[in-house]
Amino acid sequence: MQGIIQQNYQGIEALQIKSIEEGPLTPLSVMIQNKFVLVLPYDWQTESGALTEIRPVQLPIVIGYGFGGIVEQVGRLRHSSLIGQRVIGMQPNGSAQEVINNKIPPLLFKVPDQVTLADATTLIGGADAALHAIKVLEVKSTDTVLVTGASGGVGTYLIQLLKLAGTTVIALASAENQTFVRQLGADSVLNYEADLAAQFSNSRQPNKVIDTVGQQALLQLISASYGSLRILSLSTTHFLPTKPGQDFRFSNGSIGIGGYQHLLQLLATKQIKAYIQATYSFEAVKKAQMIAKNEHSQGRILLTF
Ligand SMILES: NC(=O)c1ccc[n+]([C@@H]2O[C@H](COP(=O)([O-])OP(=O)(O)OC[C@H]3O[C@@H](n4cnc5c(N)ncnc54)[C@H](OP(=O)(O)O)[C@@H]3O)[C@@H](O)[C@H]2O)c1
Repeated sequence: MQGIIQQNYQGIEALQIKSIEEGPLTPLSVMIQNKFVLVLPYDWQTESGALTEIRPVQLPIVIGYGFGGIVEQVGRLRHSSLIGQRVIGMQPNGSAQEVINNKIPPLLFKVPDQVTLADATTLIGGADAALHAIKVLEVKSTDTVLVTGASGGVGTYLIQLLKLAGTTVIALASAENQTFVRQLGADSVLNYEADLAAQFSNSRQPNKVIDTVGQQALLQLISASYGSLRILSLSTTHFLPTKPGQDFRFSNGSIGIGGYQHLLQLLATKQIKAYIQATYSFEAVKKAQMIAKNEHSQGRILLTF
């Protein structure tokens, strides 16, 4: 079968599509015909070596983390009712290959009939991180939350989940994405390509921030513009707020099995919506990653197998 391989730290252009072994069916295996993988910052940051401290890997690796596919075979310790089911899951040792041999039962979820496999796949590395951030920050309906990176794979879910919680949302996006982010439900939208200091001083004061951009200069400006503030970042592990009454933390935890089932239910009942910017064949992985990295986002880009 074919897989997308990172051989070195020379970035997106050095990725290769190669023939790789499927691996044997073990008692714990679920063999899945892969249909979708996500194009995540996690991949191109690993490919450039930017994550070597927090994610040490032994090269070569198959890239990718989440997937959506159809179960073809199961080992004797896995439930036979899985055969033929549409599932999403996590494959920490690489998901960008035609067949997934999944051996970790808690990392596999059946997709409800009302939800497309592509939509369900976008929950991984998107809505899961958003839900976790909201829980860790103990967001309440009375809060006003500033969201950076509002148009991205995480941000599109953050806005929707915050609005479901009854929160007031101030979203930060490029000029191009102002209307898109307002349509997601944001109460007000600020433009990071215009004078942000002036916009912050004219906007309602948030009491919490969820940051998915991770730029020190942006966090410094936010910190300097407001009074007491709880800041949570999904993208940078370090930041020192400048004002008294402000705190900072990084988040990268898991939402557990119940969290994924909850998100799938929210999709099934149309309380949240998946935003898929584009879908490319896995053979076009370099183009897809370049677009995701360098152009404005409107949700998540997927690769299909
Ligand atoms: N810790 C965790 O558990 C966890 C989990 C998932 C993701 N993450 C991290 O979360 C971050 C976001 O992930 P994602 O998948 O949502 O990324 P994404 O889909 O690529 O979105 C990136 C977002 O950043 C915005 N942006 C780009 N340049 C900006 C700038 N100079 N100032 C302000 N905003 C800017 C983009 O806005 P425009 O499109 O409007 O330009 C876009 O909304 C990544 O760093 C990722 O590694 C962490």
